[in-house]
Amino acid sequence: MVRLLAAGGALLLAAQVAADNWPFAGYRTAPYLPPKVKVTKSGPTDPGYIFIGPRGNQPQGTAALIYDEDGGLVYQGPEEVTANFKVQKLFNEDVITFWAGNMGDLGFGYGTVHILDNTYREIYTVTLQDNFISPDGLPRDSYIDLHESQVTHRNTLLVTAYNVTQHDLSAIGGTPNDYMLDGMFFEIDIATNEIVYSWSVLEHLADIPIEGSKQGLGEEYGTMEKPWDAYHINSVELMDEGYIISLRHYWSGFYIHNNGTVMWRLSGEEEVGDFELDDKAVFAWQHDIRVYNQTSEGMVVDLFNNANTPTDVVAATTGLSMYVDLVNRKVSTLRTMKDSDDVIHSVSQGSYQLLSPQSSHVFMGYGSIARVKEYDADNNEVLTVQFGDDNAVASYRGFKCQWKATPFWQPAVAIVRTTSDAATMFMSWNGATEYDNWAIYSASSPLGEDMTFVSSVKRDGFETTAHVTGLRSNYLQVVARKGNTPLGTSVVAYF
Ligand SMILES: *[C@@H]1O[C@H](CO)[C@@H](O)[C@H](O)[C@H]1NC(C)=O
Ligand SMILES: *[C@@H]1O[C@H](CO)[C@@H](O)[C@H](O)[C@H]1NC(C)=O
Ligand SMILES: *[C@@H]1O[C@H](CO)[C@@H](O)[C@H](O)[C@H]1NC(C)=O
Repeated sequence: MVRLLAAGGALLLAAQVAADNWPFAGYRTAPYLPPKVKVTKSGPTDPGYIFIGPRGNQPQGTAALIYDEDGGLVYQGPEEVTANFKVQKLFNEDVITFWAGNMGDLGFGYGTVHILDNTYREIYTVTLQDNFISPDGLPRDSYIDLHESQVTHRNTLLVTAYNVTQHDLSAIGGTPNDYMLDGMFFEIDIATNEIVYSWSVLEHLADIPIEGSKQGLGEEYGTMEKPWDAYHINSVELMDEGYIISLRHYWSGFYIHNNGTVMWRLSGEEEVGDFELDDKAVFAWQHDIRVYNQTSEGMVVDLFNNANTPTDVVAATTGLSMYVDLVNRKVSTLRTMKDSDDVIHSVSQGSYQLLSPQSSHVFMGYGSIARVKEYDADNNEVLTVQFGDDNAVASYRGFKCQWKATPFWQPAVAIVRTTSDAATMFMSWNGATEYDNWAIYSASSPLGEDMTFVSSVKRDGFETTAHVTGLRSNYLQVVARKGNTPLGTSVVAYF
């Protein structure tokens, strides 16, 4: 208890120091400094919590984070760089999944995908080992790239990977001995960590020639340390007979058949891919290609249309939903989403999530711009959550997910004596979504003997404060409850 109190004091001080431009929250009961979020709500929203993985100019609050729509913290994971933090279905259960690792400064990363159950126990850890080459030539524990961590209905995980390869780049102004990055994806069986499918762009150069890349080679790229990022693979999703991948540096999605063949290309540039686009269906530098309602005649394709890159700021970033007509080889725009009161140019990262087919709400993470937004069925912005300064803090993707969790760890308590028989209590239970009140008990000994009910207090966000008086012992214990049902019990705390 003494230790917790001391930590609490240090934290409050640290919170003030860490608050550079953007404010951070500090707590008495947990060593967390998550960014405070600014919530603007302008219409009815879908149910769910906000899932982000901020990183940027401050080490504090760089973690998988869950907030509620009132801006309160619900969960903070360990301090590490994360991506794709969200709820997915695995073996018919809701689990949380996220990538954690090192992002590096070449636009890709090396890491591991963690899968946690609704008590936050890690039930699967997915890694990728193969004969990859890294820019520094050093081996990594796992080569899963940050861009994708998609669980499929067959309980496999789709991930991307980047490999350094020597390649003749004379055709695009380089030399025969230059280096570039291959774009690969893997389907991994989650239960066994076995690779069940892999695919590499460099093995399909006839279908996807390097000359088609929109990413110029530039002066500094083409060495092993700085390989040319021709493709920039950033999403993979299962299709009926294969996969659809997003290659940002081709402004395109490619449908890859199970046999490896490129079946078609949906390009955001007119007269390039296999489809005729309507005026609004043009897109560039995109992320997060998602497919719905696939039939032999067509499908809905959604994506985050960055329309910008660090060296090429073109148009406002939008969410784009299209119908791809396979029979007439035409693409027609179904929806475009942008907030006209808050026009964003996101030069990297980002996500597009259809919240539910019933509400048709869409949730978008703006990547390099530290904001997430929700749009209603009429494409009006109804929610904005900002968690940092523009271009100073990023979350690779941002999601809204429904989630119920009761952690395997105990609730935390910190106590400050105010008079000889009174105290102020601080109570929290990181990640718990189900409790709505705290019951406070006094005990006659550290063993929790002769428990006497002192009072109960309504849950107030992440950390609840209560003042208790008339105490007849120096031992207190708190219980997180839903109504009268106990869900978790703290240690017996001495104060
Ligand atoms: C990565 O590239 C190297 C060098 O070209 C090659 O030997 C290796 O097989 C590649 N790794 C994978 C997983 O494709
Ligand atoms: C892969 O399957 C597609 C669809 O059946 C077919 O058109 C294509 O020729 C096949 N490619 C190979 C290499 O077998
Ligand atoms: C898929 O089809 C169903 C039934 O027609 C429709 O209600 C739903 O909105 C469609 N989904 C998308 C993403 O268009």
